Amino acid sequence: MAKPKVYVTRKIPETGLEILRAQCDITVYPEALPVPRAELLQEIKDVDGVLTLLTEKVDAEFLDHAPRVKVVSNMAVGFDNIDVKECTRRGIPVGNTPEVLTDTTADMAFTLLLSAARHVGSASRYVLAGKWKTWEPLGFLGYDIHGATLGIIGLGRIGAAVARRARGFNMNILYYDAFPRRDLEPELGLRLVSVDEILAQSDFITVHTPMTPETYHMIGEAQLRKMKPNAVIVNTARGGIIDPKALYKALKEGWIAAAGLDVTEPEPIPMDDPLLTLDNCLIVPHIASASFTTRSEMSAMAARNVLAGIHGERLPTCVNPEVYQK
Ligand code: GLV
Repeated sequence: MAKPKVYVTRKIPETGLEILRAQCDITVYPEALPVPRAELLQEIKDVDGVLTLLTEKVDAEFLDHAPRVKVVSNMAVGFDNIDVKECTRRGIPVGNTPEVLTDTTADMAFTLLLSAARHVGSASRYVLAGKWKTWEPLGFLGYDIHGATLGIIGLGRIGAAVARRARGFNMNILYYDAFPRRDLEPELGLRLVSVDEILAQSDFITVHTPMTPETYHMIGEAQLRKMKPNAVIVNTARGGIIDPKALYKALKEGWIAAAGLDVTEPEPIPMDDPLLTLDNCLIVPHIASASFTTRSEMSAMAARNVLAGIHGERLPTCVNPEVYQK
């Protein structure tokens, strides 16, 4: 019997590819940049499963071009690149890769928080530019992390992992989530407050919500104006959660002190984006889950979702379980 066909939209860690190869005929798009849309639509025309990345839009057009596809497996925890409703309507389960990247992503949120507060990016550029002439009593003064107030917007798995790290820095931790996590409050020493209280009281704010129509630009001009002038904002979730034009104004005009961004809107950030001109805006290229171990585990998880889908079994991590109620 012919093996099921699977299209993988980019090179991913071997761990995942090996799991797929054992049972499937796989085609991997070999280039470094995302597969051009026309080529993608051509490649998926007779596949049984697809392993996608957050750079691919999986919408009705995509699904129309993949009439045999039984599973869409995204190698990411976020899935805002996928029209999940449309997949469900067509009876196609969608997989993601939660849990395995939680701590690695929280590590990056904390890295950005520390680095933005202590000017690590701009100070490093200063050294590279040959500007380090002496020890400066007034040079690169930043903000203390220990003892400061951290506001976490969205207390899911990653938000909670950030809180665990913040405890080690003796931070005072506030959080907001539409689904309060009273169970975690004693263990993590958290206090539930409104978003407005987070904005007004926090020295550091980190966002950990999925991107949905409700969270799109939830941090805009009005919210940034409510923050403290020493506030540092961190985003490892999705770029669209913070309005980039408002953020530029806030950083330029000193309404807040600094930003640390793993994600931008759009991605990649255009080289003429004014945020790139600011010393108090530290930007890294969407690498929060990028550790050897985590990316390898993500690839394995995504591969196992593909196999389950093509065998008609329930995906180990499925974002639209309602697909099984039909
Ligand atoms: C990365 O952003 C992910 O959603 O896994």
